[in-house]
Amino acid sequence: MKLIVPRETRDGEKRVALVPESVKKLVKAGISVAIEQDSGAGSFIDDRAYVEAGAIVATDLKASLSEADLVLKVNPPTLDEVDLMRPGAMLLVPLTPTRNLDLVRKLLEHKVTAFSTDTIPRISRAQAMDSLSSMASIAGYKAVVMAADTLPRYFPMLMTAAGTVLPARVFVIGAGVAGLQAIATARRLGAVVEATDTRPAVRTEIESLGAKYVGVEAGEEAQDAGGYAKELSQEFYRKQTELIARHCAAADVVITTALIGGVTAPKLITAEMVDKMKPGSVIVDLAAAGGGNCTLTKPGETVEHNGVKILAPLNLPSEVAFHGSLLYSRNLTAFVLAFWKNGVFALDLSDDILKEATITHDGKVIHIPTAQALEKEGARP
Ligand code: NAI
Repeated sequence: MKLIVPRETRDGEKRVALVPESVKKLVKAGISVAIEQDSGAGSFIDDRAYVEAGAIVATDLKASLSEADLVLKVNPPTLDEVDLMRPGAMLLVPLTPTRNLDLVRKLLEHKVTAFSTDTIPRISRAQAMDSLSSMASIAGYKAVVMAADTLPRYFPMLMTAAGTVLPARVFVIGAGVAGLQAIATARRLGAVVEATDTRPAVRTEIESLGAKYVGVEAGEEAQDAGGYAKELSQEFYRKQTELIARHCAAADVVITTALIGGVTAPKLITAEMVDKMKPGSVIVDLAAAGGGNCTLTKPGETVEHNGVKILAPLNLPSEVAFHGSLLYSRNLTAFVLAFWKNGVFALDLSDDILKEATITHDGKVIHIPTAQALEKEGARP
């Protein structure tokens, strides 16, 4: 099997889909690996390191893509890249398929077997493949580092000759993977941390990291079978709005990560709530890509409102490119090798992981939510 890693073309992307450590493993398993020239530059990985690991450095992307059996990337391919792929070739990338229907149609047209890293189920067997979690964890860490850099205060409590400095108060909304890492990082820097989530299951995790849980618990109905948060009642959101307003007003830093169904960001912080925050406070809205948890968020930009800075970074894993690439590469390699049996990629669509991760195969849509989204779009006048 011929595997290729094209250079990333998204603006500002510094990660690469495979690092030499993974190349070694794949080559040892009998897979031929080609890396487009200079792909690792943003992560400080030289072409020579890839060659030493057993890869070929490809200088003609067009030719390499048209021969490839499997394409690995950090970002979805462009429509032009899909045009270069041969029918029957496989692709492993984060597709966010229900929101990228033009790309899905292109993959169908070219009979590409496309796996989406973001639809791999969050089950124990798939833990090593879970790049969403690896990347969210980086985002949670980096969000706190950015907040600490922006805040005109110390994070830790300090006893100085000039007197005592009180620790920063950090409020984390949404204690999934990113939120828990944000809590852990803020605690390591010495802040006093409070956190809230709609899923009661995370309370003990918040407390075990040394933070205080605050919240309106919604009970077991707060999460679906996949462990993702669900939409809740108006009454719940009314009570939660009061709680969030109170805790934002007392916080120096708010890190917000709330996501419903793995896709939609609920609006939890209003302009009125920001008005009541202390000037100099910082909000980092990690849910910016899904529209943001704050109504004032401008995805990809920093907004200042009454002295409060609202940061909405869109690609934090790229800002920690070395480890972002390393962990992403390990996740993809775990996926490929899990289904690599006797020298072939065994595409068993009844397998729990492949059933959810496979978006298109042989000109057909396999992923049910994507099929529904296409149908809905087709039905629109
Ligand atoms: P996750 O699904 O593990 O966590 C989201 C959490 O929000 C869940 O615990 C859920 O129960 C909670 N939640 C949902 N509604 C809520 C509400 N009304 N109030 C309080 N909590 C609520 O998601 P993960 O993987 O931790 O990602 C978090 C966010 O970070 C996502 O929006 C994701 O897109 C984003 N992200 C951003 C990156 C960036 O560079 N900006 C990079 C990676 C992830």
